[in-house]
Amino acid sequence: MATTQFDLGNETTGVVVDETSFALHGNNSSYRFHVDASSGDLISDHFGGPATENVALSNIAAHGWVEMPCRIWREFPDQGRGDFRIPAVRIRQSAGHTVSELRYTSHQVIPGKPSLPGLPATFGSEEDVSTLVVRMEDERARVVVELSYSIFPAHDAVVRSAKVTNNGNGEITIENLASFSVDLPSQELEMINLRGDWSREAFAERRKIHYGTQGFGSAVGYSSHLHNPFLAIVTPTTTESQGEAWGFSLVYTGSFAANVEKGSQGFTRAVLGFHPNHLSWPLAPGESLVTPECVAVYSTTGLGGMSRRFHRLFRDHLVRREWADRPRPALLNSWEGLSFDVNEDNIYALATDAADLGVKLFVLDDGWFGVKHPRLAETAALGIGRRIRLAQCGGQRHGEKLKFGLWFEPEMVNVRSSLYEAHPEWVLHAADYPRTEGRNQLVLNLSLPEVQDFLIASISKILGASAISYVKWDNNRGMHEMAHPSVAHRYILGAYRVFDVLTKRFPHVLWEGCASGGGRFDPGILHYFDQVWTSDNTDALERVRIQFNTSLVYPASVMGAHISAVPNWSTGRSTSIEFRAHVAMMGGSFGLELTPAEMPAEEKVKVPQLIALSERVNPVVIGGDLWRLSNPEESNWPAALFISRAGHQAVLFCFQLRAHLYHAFPFVKLQGLDPRARYRVTCNGEEAVYSGATLMNVGLQYIFYGDYQSRVVFLDRL
Ligand code: GLA
Repeated sequence: MATTQFDLGNETTGVVVDETSFALHGNNSSYRFHVDASSGDLISDHFGGPATENVALSNIAAHGWVEMPCRIWREFPDQGRGDFRIPAVRIRQSAGHTVSELRYTSHQVIPGKPSLPGLPATFGSEEDVSTLVVRMEDERARVVVELSYSIFPAHDAVVRSAKVTNNGNGEITIENLASFSVDLPSQELEMINLRGDWSREAFAERRKIHYGTQGFGSAVGYSSHLHNPFLAIVTPTTTESQGEAWGFSLVYTGSFAANVEKGSQGFTRAVLGFHPNHLSWPLAPGESLVTPECVAVYSTTGLGGMSRRFHRLFRDHLVRREWADRPRPALLNSWEGLSFDVNEDNIYALATDAADLGVKLFVLDDGWFGVKHPRLAETAALGIGRRIRLAQCGGQRHGEKLKFGLWFEPEMVNVRSSLYEAHPEWVLHAADYPRTEGRNQLVLNLSLPEVQDFLIASISKILGASAISYVKWDNNRGMHEMAHPSVAHRYILGAYRVFDVLTKRFPHVLWEGCASGGGRFDPGILHYFDQVWTSDNTDALERVRIQFNTSLVYPASVMGAHISAVPNWSTGRSTSIEFRAHVAMMGGSFGLELTPAEMPAEEKVKVPQLIALSERVNPVVIGGDLWRLSNPEESNWPAALFISRAGHQAVLFCFQLRAHLYHAFPFVKLQGLDPRARYRVTCNGEEAVYSGATLMNVGLQYIFYGDYQSRVVFLDRL
């Protein structure tokens, strides 16, 4: 992480206000905008490296067919007065039209950062963060917008959310509302986002930003596997380690839209926020709507610098759990081993085998509840106590008590269940249209307070009555029919309330989010849950790409990653136990997801040592900075380096994906070390000492033989 602090003369880091000109300075960045005196509009001035004043726009008077609002950089573009680009806000006024005229009225600087009621949000002390709230008003409609900007100087991160309040006499409808919107100057730019589907999350898509609109989003009801709520904008020459990168990450678990528009003047507008298909939010007089917040970071050290800013910010100021920087227990999850075929005998056997191998936490996945009362039902708590006792007595043979974890899918209900029989009105539906099922399930309508209360009470009963140390909270289908588009956001607010109450009520539990793998891998979830199951795809080769690309925005500490059996159930590929283990160790929550009794003896015998290795690696992966030295989408020899924050320890992961006959092996040049320091480098029992300069400028070379090879290398600063 670059720590250079620029000398800004009279201006310090944090919020600087000069009458109606505003600057948010990070250690290595500035974000500037001002009020246009005649229109009252907010004009974007700069988002990039440190800058102490605004430079007058000389091309503002350029003639063209488009009107003035299209020829300026607007901070919060409203709609209806001649800016033809994508708006940040579109309001259907009570008179029926969609014209707004928002003008600056006042501002306020607040030390620290107020929370966002009901929504996940970054947090920090007055030393960490300062907040600027800018108020605008449409006097005719009496609609007020408050834009809240928080600057975390150490992370070069600006966090923004918007609140719209209807002070008028009639109901209005918010048809579109962005958390973040920014106009960047005319220049060639490219955008990067993560797309995928079930079991193939996190393909990185890099494309030129063309004239016109391009974007992505999710209308699934959740952030989804299809597109992650993350956008990077880079210059054409930006690489992993060099060049400008702007990263945007929406702290939200619901449907979202991220749009980029290069207008006729060549300016690039980026807008992230609610998905308009799932909004149409009615606001009665006196009511407000608050957007989720969006984090924007700026880096001149390429995508790697952008990622490290996100990682530190998320670990220190988003994940509020006590587990955020604690090493995780090595676990065994029953899903791929047992699937739904769960009974008392095989739970006991699996837990026993897990403990014999050195596993610390046994997780009982899907299939644990009764067939008569599938998913959550009143009887669910009855059987579980016995199962936990069984698992624990199976695991107790080595003195240390095996911790127990349990899978839930609380937001779903089966049609054949006592819960649905009692409350058919509790599921998402639209009038008398068919209630389409996904995975034989309907979705409980979490926007209803009674459903939220039911879930809180049911889960509390189970967690309160049993020694459960870990919860895997799954969610396996999207939202189909809804009574109104706004139910989607109300649902997410309801889900957040449930997460908030339960995670506060059971603070020592390790909570893992999951949605058919990475279908809800987003910063909103990470505010409440310590980690997320990265993907149902456990093929180690696929996982290299998935985990590297997921790390573009999310820290490795929050990724669940397991060793599964070979041939892999989904790809049919076989890889060595070492390769599978080394890939899984790059995730913060390492585990096994197989039946040890079915492992070949020569594999099984290696597992205790691999678990011990994972325990050595884990603290550096959890707390360290990640340097992606070479990426799997570009190289046959991907490599990643984790360096502890204090810089004393580092772990290097090197891979060879395929055997390349008669091809030289590359030198892996390390990054982020102290060039003057000396490091002991240990790999497979061999030791050498090199300076940081040698390691970064010459690098290390490892010889591999065959497909799917790997090395874990330790560095200790002497
Ligand atoms: C989803 C999860 C899996 C597993 C199954 C159980 O697919 O992602 O890890 O829990 O559900 O049904």
